[in-house]
Amino acid sequence: MAEKTIARKPPHCLVLSYPFQGHINPMLQFSKLLVHEGVKVTLATTRFFIKNLHNNLPPSISLESISDGCDNDGIQEAGSYNAYIQRFWQVGPQSLVDLLEKLAKLGNPVDCIIYNSFLSWALDVAKRFGIVGASYFTHNMAVNSIFYHVQLGKIKVPVIEDEVSLPSMPKLQLGDLPSFFLTYEEDGPVLEMLTGQFSNLDKADWVFCNAIYELDKEVVDWTTKIWPKYRTIGPNIPSKFLDKRVKEDEEYDVTQFKSEDYCIEWLADKPKGSVIYVSFGSMVPFDEEQLREIAYGLRNSDRYFLWVVRASEETKLPKDFVKKSEKGLIVTWCSQLKVLAHEAIACFVTHCGWNSVLEALSLGVPTIAIPKWADQSTNAKYIEDVWKVGIRVPIDEKRIVRREDLNNCIKELMESEKGEEIKRNAIEWRTLMTRAASEGGSSHKNVIEFVNSLFSL
Ligand code: UDX
Repeated sequence: MAEKTIARKPPHCLVLSYPFQGHINPMLQFSKLLVHEGVKVTLATTRFFIKNLHNNLPPSISLESISDGCDNDGIQEAGSYNAYIQRFWQVGPQSLVDLLEKLAKLGNPVDCIIYNSFLSWALDVAKRFGIVGASYFTHNMAVNSIFYHVQLGKIKVPVIEDEVSLPSMPKLQLGDLPSFFLTYEEDGPVLEMLTGQFSNLDKADWVFCNAIYELDKEVVDWTTKIWPKYRTIGPNIPSKFLDKRVKEDEEYDVTQFKSEDYCIEWLADKPKGSVIYVSFGSMVPFDEEQLREIAYGLRNSDRYFLWVVRASEETKLPKDFVKKSEKGLIVTWCSQLKVLAHEAIACFVTHCGWNSVLEALSLGVPTIAIPKWADQSTNAKYIEDVWKVGIRVPIDEKRIVRREDLNNCIKELMESEKGEEIKRNAIEWRTLMTRAASEGGSSHKNVIEFVNSLFSL
């Protein structure tokens, strides 16, 4: 527990999330850890995002909003993701100032802003107010290191080399780098935002990453030399899936989509380790051809499968594919952690969003990787070659995963000696992840160090 020796008002952190599911999930879990240690937390994100959330926050965490300049319709209002970023960067800083002033007037002054590292301008605001500024990286450190090297000018875009060599990391081919290295022409502002995470980072009082020391020792050690206040504090997933340390607030979450939790009942009568769980996160759209190949790959495997196809994607499914068949169930959203924790689950076909990767590692579920966008290819590289907890499905010249290849990977994972080894590795990682987050573990110690620093302000 943190040393709260001095009787005083609890320190107040404003946790500012980027307005997407894959970002608010870990920041909410981190908030819950802070609350458990006696810190007062206000969670904030954008108005449009909040409007569309199914919001079940614990009473101890209040929710506030800032404007991204697109309060009515989000990205659609801006016209494109690039235009959205530009508008958010113009409007966000002043809106954050307004929120800090409002909270101070209400008698709730903020002592520290913990901001999603994408929103680097929030650190400048924290400094203006003379309060603690802590950057929170939702991507894995290996991915962050890649963008840092772009910012340093050590990786030039476009990448023309066959391989990129970075300190403390395996050699990376173009296909292992974040997708924006392939789409840099249309995604210029996104790349700028990602390299901009480091533009003022030397002024940050703390730099957190939703990562685990044991998982990435070399990169973490290397990173800590650059930012001495860099700390791993992951995996930020609900603690009941790791240990019983935080007992309150377990069921609380915020989601963009309603879970179809009858899938948990559907799993109940399936044999142990028999069901393939398939989900591609909250954002990435697939084209019809890709969905068709995955659909038939799953059907041809002749195994049970539970597949999350978001409502916006459902019309792209092949016409002869029904939501419930003898072997398969399709839902629009589920409680992913409950599913991954279910003993019927054999493996996870995933897009390798960082939260999904951490969740699979934390629950010892082996993975089949189909990365599509953003950081996912780098995560897939680590899954296959560094942590050895999964198999990456090959893509063809159209960058599509074909049904036979998916089927072969499923067979390999479920039936081969290599698959057995992968399953053993997944179980070993699970133990390390749990230990890191438990009392006295590497991440837990870092959280306590931070909380103690807040109490001694
Ligand atoms: C995005 C990016 O795509 C990802 O690469 C980046 O690392 C974070 O931001 P997203 O695509 O949504 O995130 O993937 P992911 O990081 O895996 O986050 C999805 C979250 O939604 C996970 O926490 C997962 O448990 C949850 N989820 C997903 C559900 O609760 N139910 C579902 O049915 C599917």
